[in-house]
Amino acid sequence: MNADRTNADKKLTRRALLVGVGVAGGAGAMYAAMGALGLAPSQQQKDFAPPQRSDFALTGRAAAKVVILGAGVAGLASAYELGKAGYDCTVLEASDHVGGRNRTLRAGDRLTELDGETQVATFSEGTYFNAGPARIAQWMVTLDYCRELRVPVELFVNNNSNAYVFNSGMLAPVRFRTARADMYGYVAELLAKATASGALDKRLTSGDKANLLDFLGQFGAIGSDGSYTGSPRRGFQVYPATGPGTPLSGPPPMSDVLGYGLGRALSFDLDYEQAMPMFQPVGGMDKIVEALAREVGDDRIRMGAKVTKITNLPDGVEVAYTGGSIKADYCVAALPPHLLVKIPCNLDPKVRAALAIPVPASAGKLGLEYRRRWWELEDRIYGGITETDLDLQRLWYPSYGFHGTHGLMLGYYNIGSDADTYAKLTHGRRLARALEQGERIHGPKYRQDLTASVSVAWRRQPHIEGAWAGWRNYDANFELLRHPAGRVYFAGDWMSYLVAWQAGAFESARAAVTQLHQRVLKGT
Ligand code: ALA
Repeated sequence: MNADRTNADKKLTRRALLVGVGVAGGAGAMYAAMGALGLAPSQQQKDFAPPQRSDFALTGRAAAKVVILGAGVAGLASAYELGKAGYDCTVLEASDHVGGRNRTLRAGDRLTELDGETQVATFSEGTYFNAGPARIAQWMVTLDYCRELRVPVELFVNNNSNAYVFNSGMLAPVRFRTARADMYGYVAELLAKATASGALDKRLTSGDKANLLDFLGQFGAIGSDGSYTGSPRRGFQVYPATGPGTPLSGPPPMSDVLGYGLGRALSFDLDYEQAMPMFQPVGGMDKIVEALAREVGDDRIRMGAKVTKITNLPDGVEVAYTGGSIKADYCVAALPPHLLVKIPCNLDPKVRAALAIPVPASAGKLGLEYRRRWWELEDRIYGGITETDLDLQRLWYPSYGFHGTHGLMLGYYNIGSDADTYAKLTHGRRLARALEQGERIHGPKYRQDLTASVSVAWRRQPHIEGAWAGWRNYDANFELLRHPAGRVYFAGDWMSYLVAWQAGAFESARAAVTQLHQRVLKGT
């Protein structure tokens, strides 16, 4: 037996330890041991205790007055949680709608960009377009809020083996299942042949090699000689029914498949935020903000109130806004940092410098409504994503309204410089560009039966000016803003490690609320 193997066998591996504990102490003991080893599934903010009225019972203190800047998810969640303990919250919102980037557009909704171009959604009854957040991972606290606020959720299809991959190196789009079968097949072949030829002998024992070859046989559906020659995983021209079906031609040569550039398409859903199952609220993402705003109370949210000055005072904070000013005991600033930093204030220069650091990102989406769900009828695609290397980046097919008479898909969801390219165009030109590219994937039907469209360019949305804003490093500047600047607390997804997710906004709101409440209870 190989010496390395013998040594490995002698080691008390974590797995062996857990199996031993499980036998001796049962599942509970095993789970506790897993927690100690950092293996048990973590609970989001398991120690978050929402403020409650009864918290004040023994202190003789009372809930304070809080002004909250911004009625996005972080601002509304702060008001909602503080409201549970009777805090007197006022939310100032510069725009004419709540939710911030949680924006769902329906028939009649208007979307105005910074230069003044206004689009009016002319979608059919029941059609909605989640212009901002659109998917929720199962471990995210956002789902806990959906449960608590009684917002029904349904599955969001984030990957679909029947959707396509289309990269410029391909003659025609390829179904995900075909691309995956071929890429996994060839990778498995290469690795199996390298293993069998002894190229990996320095890394692998003979036992490892046998185990790896066993794995690769299944992973890549390769033959006993290690070669990949295709498999039914690739899919069929005619699927089996009463006959055996007609296989697709192929597979293409290895060099072609390597040239497709499949890395991103075949790996994005391995990310912990993107793995299935994912969820969406039934009827539109803004059901979450509707519910939050309902709980907070319309009378506590001042619309069209753009903050013009923030002044920390020894005994409170004063906020001036278009239409008035308000004095409160505390403030939760839940605006994007790149806008917050422009507001005149007397905050410490170090705080202002930290606020200037997060970098606003670009992202754009185009909602296309068709009177026919051709992606289901002709392509047999029920939800999911087609990934491309075109500047539209990806197409999304809807996860609601299956088998309906009409439906809305995304003609692009792009991020970064591709989003900037589209953002510079009028809506009409964005649409023309996206249709031209989408036609390369779906053919002439992509232009037919189109009934309505709306595009959003998040850098051009007033009072938001970014899809999200992120930190290059979570350094001392981030740490500084985790603490209040005088009586001003900061919240937003940018104040979390979950930038670009509503979960980050919720988690940051919980953190700000917890600190604020503890301070009020202590009376400091
Ligand atoms: N959370 C964003 C998304 O899912 C970035 O695309």
